[in-house]
Amino acid sequence: MRRIVILFSGNGTNLENIIQKLHQKELLVAAAITNNPKAKGIERAKKYNIPVEVLDHQGFASREAFDQALVERIQKYRPHLVVLAGFMRILTPVFTSTIKNAINIHPSLLPLFKGARAIERSFASDMKVAGVTVHWVSEELDGGKIIDQACFHRENEDLEEFEAKLHKLEYELYPKVIHNIIRSKSPSSPHINKSAH
Ligand code: GAR
Repeated sequence: MRRIVILFSGNGTNLENIIQKLHQKELLVAAAITNNPKAKGIERAKKYNIPVEVLDHQGFASREAFDQALVERIQKYRPHLVVLAGFMRILTPVFTSTIKNAINIHPSLLPLFKGARAIERSFASDMKVAGVTVHWVSEELDGGKIIDQACFHRENEDLEEFEAKLHKLEYELYPKVIHNIIRSKSPSSPHINKSAH
């Protein structure tokens, strides 16, 4: 079975959703790596006996030094795909020039609302639709090639309802995209590292 490594920083609901839907069925979640020793996702991953690695970014002198250590941890597992699920770190070229097979989910219809507080900014906008995007990770924050998106038509939801609708879309879309990438025998994207199959 092909292996994935999941990176996360906080609550870990996407992490748990991916584990529940795909682990030991379509693929193996070889490890879950977090930069936050207090992340709720740590307990979620442990419930399924997924190896969890905590790499506290505060222990590093620079973003580059952290990224170098992160890359080494990831490579240990030789993953077919690296899945960022609420991983709240700005990545440097140390990461993006080495790890070419990484995808991210962002809670907006990119290229709109890149970066932090995307949900709040999308909510405050005049847009009549809102949605989520899965994209390849590149050197530009939330700027890599878009793989897929899902959206809904807004109906005067309050912020809490708006956020819940976005998360529901994430829980449907992300496992579907991961499944498709893992299943494809000759990936159309140049980003996939064939040696990691
Ligand atoms: C998700 O909504 C994800 O799209 C977002 O963080 C949340 C993590 O929730 N990611 C970003 O904003 C990345 N720029 P979770 O920890 O419960 O999966």
